[in-house]
Amino acid sequence: MMELPVQKHSNLLVGYETGDDAGVYKITEDIALIQTLDFFTPIVDDPYYFGQIAAANALSDVYAMGGRPLTAMNIVCFPSKEMSKNILKKILHGGLKKIQEAGAILVGGHSVDDPEIKYGLSVTGIIHPKRVLTNAGARVGDILILTKPIGTGVIATAIKANLASDEVVKKLVEVASTLNAKAAEIMQNFSIHACTDVTGFGLAGHLLEMARASKKEIEIWAESVPIIPQALEYASMGLIPAGSYANKHFCENLVEINKNIPIAKIDLLFDAQTSGGLIIALPERQANECLHTLRDEGVNYATIIGQVIKENPSGRIKIT
Ligand code: CO
Ligand code: CO
Ligand code: CO
Repeated sequence: MMELPVQKHSNLLVGYETGDDAGVYKITEDIALIQTLDFFTPIVDDPYYFGQIAAANALSDVYAMGGRPLTAMNIVCFPSKEMSKNILKKILHGGLKKIQEAGAILVGGHSVDDPEIKYGLSVTGIIHPKRVLTNAGARVGDILILTKPIGTGVIATAIKANLASDEVVKKLVEVASTLNAKAAEIMQNFSIHACTDVTGFGLAGHLLEMARASKKEIEIWAESVPIIPQALEYASMGLIPAGSYANKHFCENLVEINKNIPIAKIDLLFDAQTSGGLIIALPERQANECLHTLRDEGVNYATIIGQVIKENPSGRIKIT
């Protein structure tokens, strides 16, 4: 998208130039549309769970903008001659389960024949135009809450290498198929300044995006970041997806890393995530109440992971 000329329109509230989660277009003074699309190749072998994860991931971009999903459409690539239609059916059923859980409605979709399975959704949601959350509003002093543990990229790599235990696969499915709906609902009761979800750029990459868009320096407390059990072990074994190395390299100049932090931990902070949690930036005085509400309401992994420490026109993160 970077090379395309920027689109301007008086109703366009969020376009693609800010690297935000979804586009937002104002329809009336009270309603704006949120539009997003996401799809990818399987990260787990079970088609039903893959469908759930892909759908939860696509729906997440609506939640990350503070909105509510209304409708969804399937986007499918499938080798229909080589593979049983039953597999596709399971993927779509998994997706439908999450669409229904989100209170949205599946209205259609499109499939093409392709040697490699890919599945995801195009999702449309709504939000009040004045309540749109972007990654640009973080203020100095804000506390950052992360709502899911990281490590899905490393674990997916371990699955491909046949090194992941059933228990770890189960954990990955549990984390990645959980909707960000509850966290998004709860944050409506607090003065959230910025929000995004953690996906392909990894936790550090998405925090850097927030830092750049907000023109701030953000500190990440590596010790505090919740990690899916075993992910650190797999990362130490070098089971790092290629995209995660690329993330680290891409961010290098704008990231300061404490030399005492183990390499595997740093690699995890840049690990490309699938259907990760929300990063919520809010005033320090509200942080503990928000955290406890999240935990009480079943967002069990919610954790405070850092703070916005100062102004910085080019955006910067510091990992301590
Ligand atoms: Co996103
Ligand atoms: Co996305
Ligand atoms: Co956003």
